[in-house]
Parts: sequence; structure tokens; C-alpha cells
Amino acid sequence: MVIRETGAYDLREIMDVQQAAFGSEEEARLTADLLEDESAFPQLSLLAYDDEQAIGHVLFTAAGCTGSDCSAMLLAPLGVIGQRQLQGVGAALVTRGIEILRDSGTDLICVLGSPGYYHRFGFRSAYTAGIAAPYPIEEDLADAWMYLALNPDHLPTGPCTFRCARSLMDPKLWRE
Ligand SMILES: CC(C)(COP(=O)(O)OP(=O)(O)OC[C@H]1O[C@@H](n2cnc3c(N)ncnc32)[C@H](O)[C@@H]1OP(=O)(O)O)[C@@H](O)C(=O)NCCC(=O)NCCS
Repeated sequence: MVIRETGAYDLREIMDVQQAAFGSEEEARLTADLLEDESAFPQLSLLAYDDEQAIGHVLFTAAGCTGSDCSAMLLAPLGVIGQRQLQGVGAALVTRGIEILRDSGTDLICVLGSPGYYHRFGFRSAYTAGIAAPYPIEEDLADAWMYLALNPDHLPTGPCTFRCARSLMDPKLWRE
């Protein structure tokens, strides 16, 4: 498997992967919006290939925390095509993304996802750390809002609210 950063010419392939992963157009459209959303820059977009077939994609987009100058990113979306799921592709994309962001000086990554999946990378409850999601998340899903500190010396020092790209500032996206 090869993982590489994407360019503008990869848009069709990225959208195909996200559509195949989620089985709907919604995440593919959100990904396309984010890739051209200036408020989402800087961003990190990684495609995984096997035998020249695109099999997985992950996007990290610029974010921040109110009252703090820490450098934050949001991980969303992450998708692996159906026939290649549960073979380590998603984990390889997330791990590579974390490495690149750590090396480039990112302090914090947040994600809204399954704790059973993201705990393996070190993500933990963001609410417990005082980082509120951009929109309220239902109480029984609160554990799905998670953070990973890449630079524990430069994190928000008090309770804060996460702010992300304009394309993600839609309460509907934070309900599931
Ligand atoms: C979720 C997804 C990205 C995981 O990537 P993957 O390459 O299939 O999974 P990996 O091989 O990296 O990891 C497999 C492990 O993750 C677990 N896992 C996979 N999907 C999971 C989920 N939604 N919730 C919890 N655990 C999950 C598997 O049980 C397996 O656990 P094990 O290592 O303890 O056996 C991929 O299955 C996918 O694209 N699913 C559809 C889209 C989606 O739901 N994306 C949301 C990401 S928040």
C-alpha cells in the first residue's frame, strides 16, 4: 500500500473513495467542499493506493479553540472502500496523518467518531479535557467527540469551544 498527499487533480478519485466508503454522496460532497474551502486551510489530504487503485482517503482541516492560539486540526472524513475495510487501511491513513501533523507543529487533533476505533490512536474524550464541540452533541454520543494532544505543552489552558472550517459549521453534521 502507498499513501500520498493529494493534489487538485485527485478530486474525482477522492470523491469516489468517500462515496464507496459511506455508501452515500453526502461525505463525498462535504469532502469536495472542504478541499476548496479557504477557511479549511492549511489542510492535509491523504489517499491510500494498492495496485494503483485508490482504496482510502482521510482529510484533516484547519481548526482552532476559542481563547487559545494552539494549532488544531479536525479529522473528517475518513473512508475506506467496502472491499478493503478491516485490513488496516484506515489505521495506516490516520497514523500517517498524525505523524505528518506532529512533524509540522500541530498541537491538537479532534475527531467526531467511534471511540472504539479512535482510542487505538490515543484519542480521548474532548469534553473531559474541556474542549466543547462547535455544536452541542447529544449526551449519549458525547464520548464520540475526541481529541489527541500532539504537543501537550501547547493546549488550551481552560474550557474552550472548537472552531472549524465554514463547511463544517452546520449543526446537522454534528448530530450523528
Ligand atoms: C471506519 C473505517 C474508516 C475503518 O477503517 P478500516 O480500514 O476499515 O479499519 P482498520 O483496518 O483500520 O481497523 C480495523 C479495526 O477497527 C475496528 N473498526 C472498524 N470500523 C469501526 C467502527 N466504525 N467503530 C469501531 N471500530 C471499528 C474493527 O473492528 C477492527 O478492530 P480490531 O483491530 O480490534 O480487530 C472504515 O471501515 C470505513 O470507511 N467505514 C465506512 C465509513 C465510516 O464509517 N467512516 C467513519 C470513520 S469515523
